[in-house]
Amino acid sequence: MTATQPRPLTTDDDWWRSAVVYQVYVRSFADANGDGIGDLPGLRNRLPYLRDLGVDALWLTPFYTSPMVDGGYDVADYRDVDPMFGTLADFDAMIADAHTLGLRIIVDLVPNHTSSAHPWFVAALAAAPGSPERARYLFAEGRGEHGELPPNDWESIFGGPAWTRVPDGQWYLHLFDPAQPDLNWRNPEVRAEFEDILRFWLDRGVDGFRIDVAHGMIKAEGLPDVGFGTLTTGQRQVELLGKGRLPYFDQDEVHDIYRSWRPILDSYPGGRMAVAEAWAETPQRLARYIGPDELHQAFSFDFLDATWSADSFRKVVDTALAESTIVGAPTTWVLSNHDKQRHVTRYGDGPDGLRRARAATLLMLALPGCAYLFQGEELGLPEVLDLPDELRQDPAFLRTGESRDGCRVPLPWDGELPPYGFGPAGSDRSWLPAPATWRALSVAAQAGVPDSTLELYRAALRIRRGHPALSADAGGVTWLTTEPGVLAFSRAAGDAVLTCVVNLSGAPVVAGGHGELVVASAPLTRQGDGHLLPVDAAAWFERR
Ligand code: NOJ
Ligand code: CA
Repeated sequence: MTATQPRPLTTDDDWWRSAVVYQVYVRSFADANGDGIGDLPGLRNRLPYLRDLGVDALWLTPFYTSPMVDGGYDVADYRDVDPMFGTLADFDAMIADAHTLGLRIIVDLVPNHTSSAHPWFVAALAAAPGSPERARYLFAEGRGEHGELPPNDWESIFGGPAWTRVPDGQWYLHLFDPAQPDLNWRNPEVRAEFEDILRFWLDRGVDGFRIDVAHGMIKAEGLPDVGFGTLTTGQRQVELLGKGRLPYFDQDEVHDIYRSWRPILDSYPGGRMAVAEAWAETPQRLARYIGPDELHQAFSFDFLDATWSADSFRKVVDTALAESTIVGAPTTWVLSNHDKQRHVTRYGDGPDGLRRARAATLLMLALPGCAYLFQGEELGLPEVLDLPDELRQDPAFLRTGESRDGCRVPLPWDGELPPYGFGPAGSDRSWLPAPATWRALSVAAQAGVPDSTLELYRAALRIRRGHPALSADAGGVTWLTTEPGVLAFSRAAGDAVLTCVVNLSGAPVVAGGHGELVVASAPLTRQGDGHLLPVDAAAWFERR
């Protein structure tokens, strides 16, 4: 590991506007005690690596007390650390070190549902229908002569009906796993509880929150059916996510919740922020989550969903930038996260996928706004497609056959044998096995190797941090005229101009007239006054 110097946190309250945020899937990042599961002390040990990578902040996926039915998105105690991940004291020590190294910490907040092991749900099951204990969740009578049918036609995101019946005959709503009962956000007690949870973590020094299922907390009054007319034959309701209207998502009243949270965030010093994991029918509806009286950011999943073509990227970038101008908030780009197939694999896997993933990264990091990286993308990790079924833990797998485990395989750090330094010296345990091909992808195998993906990320992040034309104050995107299939745009700050060229055309192209080459995703050769940009490559050029 490289030696590191403390780097003070910037004093800028608007730090999040152009930050690079690194998503730590805690369970798979680094294991300090050798039980095969990543933990907070493991993360703390590896903070210097993240500081040297050059990111500004970390987003930590849930590490709270949880039965881990859904990787911790089933929280049983919102104010404590699961023993699997450490203790509150470990959290405090980790955040103190992170702040000393100039890294901000964003934690995940899971307000749509609790775990079924949460004391509130345990009490709800023990209490009678109509009781205040049940009123914290969404219990309802069933349909049919004896109430034997679910109250409506809503489907769980993880497959099957969104309702489960309890022994006294009532049903409760769970948009995800039955072990994740949905809270009733029309109940003031629920609202008060989460305001207190926000304060609990703000008091511990967190710099922000990633809001899980931010579009889901309010359900349409009367819990109406989705109705068959909304769907085409064979289509699951979840396929409308981000495309259509559903009575359990993106209801107007959800915005009242964020308007009540914003003053809480603003009452703390140091630019505390929140980013929404929200899905809405249109980019316009998504933009309603952000602004001076609601949340600071919402992930632009359209960028992640863009196919490998110039038209596709151009369209999503233009739409996101236009929306961000209207609401006066920065765009929030993301290529991979713990729910999606890693982008190396989405773009074709193997050498093709890696080439494209590296180019997409240079595209993303040159755009205005904030960028979110998912752990391991800086190593060019592909999705692990051949995990044995019996090791898969995603609750969606049993219900739909689709699993998100392949992007959650523990990181390879060093060494010759799996799990490649994931645990302490001598430990051979990891909760999912790393493939043998990852030996060559470990941090140690790539560090200092000039054309490695790790060094590409380090170089791009260093340039982004220091270049005026990539700063928060720099201008927006000016598209340049190019041959078909090539994207080129410039950003400027005073006399400094940075141009990003991405070749998605299927044939090499000459890039010239943009000044000095600063970084490229693949080796370039000189051609006349310019450079020959190979297929699926991107490069940054500068003029000062
Ligand atoms: C979104 C999270 O990213 C995902 O991992 C989780 O399964 C669902 N929300 C439910 O909390
Ligand atoms: Ca551990």
